[in-house]
Amino acid sequence: MRLADIHCHILPYVDDGAEHIEEMEALLTSAVEQGIEVICATPHLRHGMFESTDADIIRQYRRACDLIEERDLPIRLFLSREYFCDDAFLERLHQNSLIPMGFGSILLSEFSGRYSAVMIEGYLKKILDAGSTPLIAHVERYGCLDEEWIGRFVSMGAMIQINAGSVLGREGHRQKKLCWELMRHDLVHVVASDAHDPSFRPNELGLCANKIEHKLGQAYAKKVLWDGPVEILSLSKGE
Ligand SMILES: [Fe+2]
Repeated sequence: MRLADIHCHILPYVDDGAEHIEEMEALLTSAVEQGIEVICATPHLRHGMFESTDADIIRQYRRACDLIEERDLPIRLFLSREYFCDDAFLERLHQNSLIPMGFGSILLSEFSGRYSAVMIEGYLKKILDAGSTPLIAHVERYGCLDEEWIGRFVSMGAMIQINAGSVLGREGHRQKKLCWELMRHDLVHVVASDAHDPSFRPNELGLCANKIEHKLGQAYAKKVLWDGPVEILSLSKGE
């Protein structure tokens, strides 16, 4: 199955993802082995914690592109960010200084584990009002969100991403159960790896794809692992 991975931390020296070039290379090699053809690197941007500038991440993105070319890896690489929603994010949103995913206007958005569902809803409304579409990163992680809230966010126009590791049960029973419920009720737009490094938070998208295909069928697996992510990147607009 063709796979696209649009949430991962493969770029070195910019956040808590790959520590150095060798780790990035290991993550890229692992992606190729799993059949991943399209990757969107999404380094964190979080005020007070992960503050790499756009120039920093663009520099590392270029190094990654060079490596892909040198090694002749069959991967198409894009650059965006995983934006932590806070006041600093809202300021950037209003200044229009954010990097959307691919050629579209979708922003990978994460929230504090301390936010309430109502606060998350408030941020989603602000992103939508600004003309962008929020893609909620690893929605299963937020203890305040259940299927009803997530359904409400989808009705508002938000999109939903879940992590391959959570689908496989690496993050505990509650998260795994919620992921499968959301997929069964068609509330997921994309499954991504959120890989950070080759050993502790590796890329398990291939294994996850097999599980989804086995349980929910090939057409559904293709929808959340290829069609959905490719549509989010709006690849057709950039051709
Ligand atoms: Fe992430």
